[in-house]
Amino acid sequence: MEEEMKRVLRTKEEARRSYDRKAWWYDMAASFERYYTDIGLQLLSPRVGETILEIGFGTGGSLVELAQAVGRSGTVHGIDISPNMVAAARKKLNRAGVGDRVTLICGDATHLPYSERYFDGIFMSFSLELFDTPEILPLLHESRRVLRPRGRLCTVSLSRIEVNTAVKLYEFLHTIFPKSLDCRPIYSENLLREAGFDIDEKRVFSMYGLPIEIVAATSYDGE
Ligand SMILES: C[S@@+](CC[C@H](N)C(=O)[O-])C[C@H]1O[C@@H](n2cnc3c(N)ncnc32)[C@H](O)[C@@H]1O
Repeated sequence: MEEEMKRVLRTKEEARRSYDRKAWWYDMAASFERYYTDIGLQLLSPRVGETILEIGFGTGGSLVELAQAVGRSGTVHGIDISPNMVAAARKKLNRAGVGDRVTLICGDATHLPYSERYFDGIFMSFSLELFDTPEILPLLHESRRVLRPRGRLCTVSLSRIEVNTAVKLYEFLHTIFPKSLDCRPIYSENLLREAGFDIDEKRVFSMYGLPIEIVAATSYDGE
C-alpha cells in the first residue's frame, strides 16, 4: 500500500512569483539536476521532423536540445507559468540559433492550450512533482489528449519509490517552506500507468540520497 504523497498547497500566483524570482540564478542552483534531465532527453529520443512539447521548461536548456534534435523540419513548443523563465528561455534559444523553431506560451499547464493529437512527444523534467496531487492525473490525461497515437512521454522526477531519510527530510522542509520548496517526491511510474500510459523504460538514480525516477512511456490512445 502506497503512503500518500505530500500535497502542493501554494497557489499558482505564488508559483509564478517564486519562479520569477528564481529565474536569474536557476541555472547555477539546479546544475546538478542536468545529468538526470539529459538521461530523460535520451529516453524521450526526439527525432528529426517531430513536434515536441516541454511542460515547465524553466530557463530552456532542454528546449535548446529538443530544438536541435528535431532540426529545421521539426517544431518544439513549451509552456511555463513564469514570465521570467519564458524570457530567460527565449534568450537562450535565440543565442543557440534555434529560436525560430520554438513556440513558447506563458501559462498554467493544467490546461494545455493545444489541439488533440498534436505532439509526437512530451517532456517533463522536475516539473510533474510541482503539481498538486489532484492535478496530476488530469494533467497526464491532458497530455494523452494532445499526444498522437504512439506518442511518447518522458518524466524526470523526485521519487517516493523509497522513503529514506533524504525523502523524509525533503518532505519535512517542503511542509515548512511550501512556497519556496514547492515540489515533493511522487510515484511517477504508478501515476503514468494510472493515467493509461504504457511504460517503456524506467531508471532510478540517487541524487544526494534523494531517489530520481526517469520514466519513458507511450500513449496508444486512438490506435
Ligand atoms: C523546477 S523547475 C524545472 C525547470 C526545467 N524543466 C529544468 O529541468 O531545469 C519547474 C518549472 O515549472 C514551472 N511551473 C511551475 N508550475 C507550473 C504550472 N502550473 N504550469 C506550467 N509551468 C509551471 C516553473 O515556472 C519552473 O520553470
